[in-house]
Amino acid sequence: MKRILITGAASGIGRATATLFARNGWTVGLLDVNNDALVSLSDELAGAWYQRLDVTSHSDCIEACEAFAEAHDGLDVLFNCAGILRMGAFEDIAADQHAQIINVNVNGLMNMSLAALPHLKKGDRPAVINMSSASALYGTPDFASYSASKFAVRGLTEALNIEWERQGIRVVDIMPPFVKTPMLDEAEYRAPVVDRLGVNLSADDIAGEVYKAANGPTPVHNPVGGLFRLMTLMDKVLPSRSTKWTMSWLSRH
Ligand code: NAI
Repeated sequence: MKRILITGAASGIGRATATLFARNGWTVGLLDVNNDALVSLSDELAGAWYQRLDVTSHSDCIEACEAFAEAHDGLDVLFNCAGILRMGAFEDIAADQHAQIINVNVNGLMNMSLAALPHLKKGDRPAVINMSSASALYGTPDFASYSASKFAVRGLTEALNIEWERQGIRVVDIMPPFVKTPMLDEAEYRAPVVDRLGVNLSADDIAGEVYKAANGPTPVHNPVGGLFRLMTLMDKVLPSRSTKWTMSWLSRH
Protein backbone atom coordinates (compact mmCIF):
# COMPACT_ATOMS: atom_id res chain seq x y z
CA MET A 1 0.00 0.00 0.00
CA LYS A 2 1.50 3.35 -1.04
CA ARG A 3 1.91 6.16 1.47
CA ILE A 4 1.34 9.90 0.98
CA LEU A 5 1.81 12.85 3.34
CA ILE A 6 -0.28 15.93 2.56
CA THR A 7 0.24 19.41 4.01
CA GLY A 8 -2.74 21.75 4.06
CA ALA A 9 -4.85 18.59 4.24
CA ALA A 10 -7.63 20.09 6.37
CA SER A 11 -9.27 22.20 3.65
CA GLY A 12 -9.87 22.71 -0.04
CA ILE A 13 -7.46 20.97 -2.42
CA GLY A 14 -5.53 19.15 0.33
CA ARG A 15 -8.73 17.75 1.77
CA ALA A 16 -10.09 16.60 -1.61
CA THR A 17 -6.72 15.00 -2.38
CA ALA A 18 -6.60 13.16 0.94
CA THR A 19 -10.11 11.84 0.33
CA LEU A 20 -9.32 10.66 -3.22
CA PHE A 21 -6.11 8.89 -2.22
CA ALA A 22 -7.72 7.25 0.82
CA ARG A 23 -10.61 6.00 -1.37
CA ASN A 24 -8.04 4.47 -3.72
CA GLY A 25 -6.41 2.48 -0.96
CA TRP A 26 -3.45 4.73 -0.17
CA THR A 27 -2.23 5.22 3.38
CA VAL A 28 -2.77 8.93 3.92
CA GLY A 29 -1.06 11.25 6.43
CA LEU A 30 -2.90 14.51 7.11
CA LEU A 31 -0.93 17.58 8.17
CA ASP A 32 -2.28 21.05 8.82
CA VAL A 33 -2.12 23.93 11.26
CA ASN A 34 -5.89 23.55 11.88
CA ASN A 35 -6.19 20.69 14.38
CA ASP A 36 -10.01 20.65 14.69
CA ALA A 37 -10.45 20.27 10.94
CA LEU A 38 -7.81 17.51 10.91
CA VAL A 39 -9.68 15.57 13.59
CA SER A 40 -12.95 15.73 11.67
CA LEU A 41 -11.30 14.72 8.36
CA SER A 42 -9.49 11.85 10.05
CA ASP A 43 -12.88 10.64 11.39
CA GLU A 44 -14.33 10.80 7.87
CA LEU A 45 -11.38 8.81 6.50
CA ALA A 46 -11.70 5.89 8.90
CA GLY A 47 -9.15 7.22 11.39
CA ALA A 48 -6.46 8.34 8.93
CA TRP A 49 -3.17 9.32 10.56
CA TYR A 50 -2.87 13.06 11.26
CA GLN A 51 -0.64 15.51 13.05
CA ARG A 52 -0.97 19.24 13.63
CA LEU A 53 1.99 21.15 12.24
CA ASP A 54 2.98 24.59 11.12
CA VAL A 55 5.01 24.20 7.92
CA THR A 56 7.02 27.32 8.79
CA SER A 57 8.57 25.36 11.68
CA HIS A 58 11.33 23.08 10.42
CA SER A 59 11.26 21.08 13.67
CA ASP A 60 7.48 20.49 13.28
CA CYS A 61 8.13 19.18 9.77
CA ILE A 62 10.93 16.84 10.88
CA GLU A 63 8.82 15.47 13.75
CA ALA A 64 5.81 14.91 11.50
CA CYS A 65 7.78 13.11 8.78
CA GLU A 66 9.55 10.92 11.32
CA ALA A 67 6.31 10.07 13.13
CA PHE A 68 4.48 9.19 9.90
CA ALA A 69 7.37 7.11 8.51
CA GLU A 70 7.72 5.26 11.79
CA ALA A 71 4.00 4.52 12.02
CA HIS A 72 3.76 3.34 8.38
CA ASP A 73 7.21 1.97 7.75
CA GLY A 74 8.13 4.70 5.26
CA LEU A 75 6.86 7.37 2.91
CA ASP A 76 6.41 7.38 -0.89
CA VAL A 77 4.86 10.71 -1.86
CA LEU A 78 4.89 14.19 -0.34
CA PHE A 79 2.19 16.62 -1.50
CA ASN A 80 3.18 20.17 -0.54
CA CYS A 81 -0.24 21.80 -0.60
CA ALA A 82 -0.36 24.16 2.43
CA GLY A 83 -0.56 27.75 1.29
CA ILE A 84 -2.03 31.15 2.04
CA LEU A 85 -3.21 34.00 -0.16
CA ARG A 86 -3.94 37.65 0.29
CA MET A 87 -5.23 39.64 -2.66
CA GLY A 88 -5.06 43.40 -3.06
CA ALA A 89 -2.89 46.27 -4.21
CA PHE A 90 0.70 45.59 -3.14
CA GLU A 91 0.80 48.67 -0.89
CA ASP A 92 -2.54 47.84 0.80
CA ILE A 93 -1.07 44.64 2.25
CA ALA A 94 1.12 45.03 5.36
CA ALA A 95 4.80 44.06 5.18
CA ASP A 96 4.34 41.27 7.74
CA GLN A 97 1.49 39.78 5.67
CA HIS A 98 3.64 39.74 2.54
CA ALA A 99 6.39 38.08 4.59
CA GLN A 100 3.97 35.48 5.94
CA ILE A 101 2.87 34.55 2.41
CA ILE A 102 6.50 33.90 1.44
CA ASN A 103 7.14 32.11 4.72
CA VAL A 104 4.26 29.62 4.42
CA ASN A 105 4.25 29.14 0.64
CA VAL A 106 8.03 28.98 0.11
CA ASN A 107 9.88 28.30 3.37
CA GLY A 108 7.14 25.86 4.43
CA LEU A 109 7.57 23.88 1.21
CA MET A 110 11.35 23.82 1.63
CA ASN A 111 11.05 22.74 5.28
CA MET A 112 8.76 19.84 4.39
CA SER A 113 10.81 18.76 1.39
CA LEU A 114 14.01 18.66 3.46
CA ALA A 115 12.29 16.81 6.30
CA ALA A 116 10.75 14.22 3.96
CA LEU A 117 13.88 13.55 1.90
CA PRO A 118 15.51 10.83 4.06
CA HIS A 119 12.22 8.89 4.07
CA LEU A 120 11.45 9.43 0.36
CA LYS A 121 14.89 8.07 -0.56
CA LYS A 122 13.73 4.70 0.76
CA GLY A 123 10.23 4.97 -0.76
CA ASP A 124 8.50 3.07 -3.57
CA ARG A 125 8.71 5.19 -6.79
CA PRO A 126 8.96 8.32 -4.61
CA ALA A 127 7.69 11.74 -5.66
CA VAL A 128 7.23 15.27 -4.40
CA ILE A 129 4.24 17.14 -5.80
CA ASN A 130 4.15 20.89 -5.20
CA MET A 131 1.14 23.21 -5.46
CA SER A 132 2.20 26.00 -7.71
CA SER A 133 -0.35 28.17 -9.50
CA ALA A 134 -1.29 29.89 -12.74
CA SER A 135 0.19 32.99 -11.11
CA ALA A 136 3.64 31.44 -11.68
CA LEU A 137 3.26 32.04 -15.43
CA TYR A 138 3.41 35.85 -15.30
CA GLY A 139 3.46 38.19 -12.28
CA THR A 140 -0.20 38.73 -11.39
CA PRO A 141 -1.44 42.20 -10.35
CA ASP A 142 -3.26 42.15 -6.94
CA PHE A 143 -1.38 38.92 -6.18
CA ALA A 144 2.20 40.28 -6.20
CA SER A 145 3.71 38.47 -3.21
CA TYR A 146 1.55 35.36 -3.72
CA SER A 147 2.61 35.27 -7.36
CA ALA A 148 6.26 35.71 -6.30
CA SER A 149 5.85 32.81 -3.85
CA LYS A 150 4.53 30.56 -6.64
CA PHE A 151 7.42 31.60 -8.95
CA ALA A 152 9.67 30.41 -6.13
CA VAL A 153 7.77 27.11 -6.01
CA ARG A 154 8.25 26.83 -9.77
CA GLY A 155 12.01 27.43 -9.46
CA LEU A 156 12.38 24.98 -6.59
CA THR A 157 10.42 22.37 -8.53
CA GLU A 158 12.60 22.74 -11.62
CA ALA A 159 15.86 22.61 -9.65
CA LEU A 160 14.87 19.65 -7.48
CA ASN A 161 13.36 17.85 -10.47
CA ILE A 162 16.92 17.63 -11.78
CA GLU A 163 18.82 17.34 -8.46
CA TRP A 164 16.64 14.63 -6.95
CA GLU A 165 16.25 12.68 -10.18
CA ARG A 166 19.73 11.36 -9.30
CA GLN A 167 18.21 9.95 -6.11
CA GLY A 168 15.25 8.44 -7.95
CA ILE A 169 12.74 11.02 -6.68
CA ARG A 170 10.37 12.73 -9.14
CA VAL A 171 9.61 16.38 -8.33
CA VAL A 172 6.75 18.05 -10.23
CA ASP A 173 4.24 20.83 -9.70
CA ILE A 174 0.57 21.48 -10.45
CA MET A 175 -0.37 24.88 -11.90
CA PRO A 176 -4.11 25.58 -11.74
CA PRO A 177 -5.90 28.86 -12.27
CA PHE A 178 -8.65 29.66 -9.77
CA VAL A 179 -10.19 26.76 -7.85
CA LYS A 180 -13.37 26.92 -5.76
CA THR A 181 -12.06 26.49 -2.19
CA PRO A 182 -12.26 28.40 1.11
CA MET A 183 -9.05 30.23 0.08
CA LEU A 184 -11.05 32.18 -2.50
CA ASP A 185 -14.49 31.99 -0.91
CA GLU A 186 -13.33 33.46 2.40
CA ALA A 187 -11.00 36.13 0.99
CA GLU A 188 -11.61 39.64 2.37
CA TYR A 189 -11.03 41.18 -1.06
CA ARG A 190 -11.67 39.57 -4.45
CA ALA A 191 -9.49 40.92 -7.25
CA PRO A 192 -11.24 41.58 -10.61
CA VAL A 193 -9.08 38.95 -12.36
CA VAL A 194 -10.81 36.20 -10.37
CA ASP A 195 -14.22 36.76 -11.92
CA ARG A 196 -12.84 37.76 -15.31
CA LEU A 197 -10.89 34.50 -15.64
CA GLY A 198 -13.60 32.61 -13.77
CA VAL A 199 -13.51 29.99 -11.02
CA ASN A 200 -14.11 26.92 -13.16
CA LEU A 201 -12.20 24.21 -11.30
CA SER A 202 -13.16 22.27 -8.18
CA ALA A 203 -10.86 20.89 -5.49
CA ASP A 204 -11.77 17.42 -6.81
CA ASP A 205 -10.46 18.38 -10.27
CA ILE A 206 -7.09 19.26 -8.76
CA ALA A 207 -7.05 16.12 -6.60
CA GLY A 208 -7.40 14.14 -9.84
CA GLU A 209 -4.33 15.90 -11.27
CA VAL A 210 -2.35 15.14 -8.10
CA TYR A 211 -3.40 11.50 -8.37
CA LYS A 212 -2.13 11.33 -11.95
CA ALA A 213 1.15 12.97 -10.93
CA ALA A 214 1.61 10.55 -8.02
CA ASN A 215 0.99 7.49 -10.17
CA GLY A 216 2.70 8.15 -13.44
CA PRO A 217 5.35 10.12 -15.16
CA THR A 218 4.13 13.67 -15.78
CA PRO A 219 5.97 16.75 -17.04
CA VAL A 220 7.72 18.94 -14.48
CA HIS A 221 4.92 21.55 -14.75
CA ASN A 222 1.29 20.50 -15.00
CA PRO A 223 -0.99 23.39 -16.01
CA VAL A 224 -4.67 22.61 -15.38
CA GLY A 225 -7.73 23.58 -17.46
CA GLY A 226 -8.10 24.23 -21.20
CA LEU A 227 -7.92 28.02 -21.04
CA PHE A 228 -4.83 28.13 -18.86
CA ARG A 229 -3.10 25.44 -20.95
CA LEU A 230 -3.73 27.67 -23.97
CA MET A 231 -2.28 30.69 -22.13
CA THR A 232 0.82 28.63 -21.22
CA LEU A 233 1.26 27.63 -24.85
CA MET A 234 0.78 31.22 -26.07
CA ASP A 235 3.38 32.40 -23.55
CA LYS A 236 5.89 30.01 -25.15
CA VAL A 237 5.24 30.91 -28.76
CA LEU A 238 4.27 34.61 -28.69
CA PRO A 239 6.48 37.57 -27.67
CA SER A 240 6.42 38.15 -23.88
CA ARG A 241 4.52 41.42 -24.30
CA SER A 242 1.48 39.37 -25.38
CA THR A 243 1.29 37.71 -21.96
CA LYS A 244 1.76 41.10 -20.29
CA TRP A 245 -1.08 42.50 -22.40
CA THR A 246 -3.38 39.54 -21.54
CA MET A 247 -2.58 39.82 -17.83
CA SER A 248 -3.10 43.57 -17.85
CA TRP A 249 -6.47 43.19 -19.61
CA LEU A 250 -7.66 40.37 -17.31
CA SER A 251 -6.74 42.26 -14.14
CA ARG A 252 -7.96 45.75 -15.09
CA HIS A 253 -9.98 47.62 -12.43
P1 NAI B 1 -7.41 26.40 1.58
O1 NAI B 1 -7.30 27.70 2.29
O2 NAI B 1 -8.74 25.80 1.39
O3 NAI B 1 -6.44 25.33 2.27
C1 NAI B 1 -5.15 25.64 2.68
C2 NAI B 1 -4.80 24.82 3.91
O4 NAI B 1 -3.44 25.14 4.29
C3 NAI B 1 -5.68 25.15 5.11
O5 NAI B 1 -6.21 23.96 5.67
C4 NAI B 1 -4.74 25.83 6.08
O6 NAI B 1 -5.07 25.60 7.45
C5 NAI B 1 -3.40 25.21 5.70
N1 NAI B 1 -2.28 26.03 6.15
C6 NAI B 1 -2.14 27.37 6.05
N2 NAI B 1 -1.01 27.77 6.64
C7 NAI B 1 -0.40 26.66 7.15
C8 NAI B 1 0.78 26.43 7.87
N3 NAI B 1 1.59 27.46 8.23
N4 NAI B 1 1.10 25.16 8.21
C9 NAI B 1 0.28 24.13 7.88
N5 NAI B 1 -0.88 24.29 7.20
C10 NAI B 1 -1.22 25.54 6.84
O7 NAI B 1 -6.69 26.65 0.17
P2 NAI B 1 -6.66 25.81 -1.18
O8 NAI B 1 -7.33 26.61 -2.21
O9 NAI B 1 -7.04 24.42 -0.96
O10 NAI B 1 -5.09 25.91 -1.51
C11 NAI B 1 -4.21 24.81 -1.43
C12 NAI B 1 -2.99 25.14 -2.25
O11 NAI B 1 -3.36 25.35 -3.62
C13 NAI B 1 -2.25 26.41 -1.83
O12 NAI B 1 -0.86 26.21 -1.93
C14 NAI B 1 -2.71 27.42 -2.86
O13 NAI B 1 -1.78 28.47 -3.02
C15 NAI B 1 -2.81 26.56 -4.10
N6 NAI B 1 -3.66 27.08 -5.15
C16 NAI B 1 -4.96 27.42 -4.90
C17 NAI B 1 -5.74 27.92 -5.90
C18 NAI B 1 -7.15 28.37 -5.66
O14 NAI B 1 -7.69 29.12 -6.49
N7 NAI B 1 -7.81 27.98 -4.58
C19 NAI B 1 -5.23 28.09 -7.28
C20 NAI B 1 -3.86 27.69 -7.43
C21 NAI B 1 -3.11 27.20 -6.40
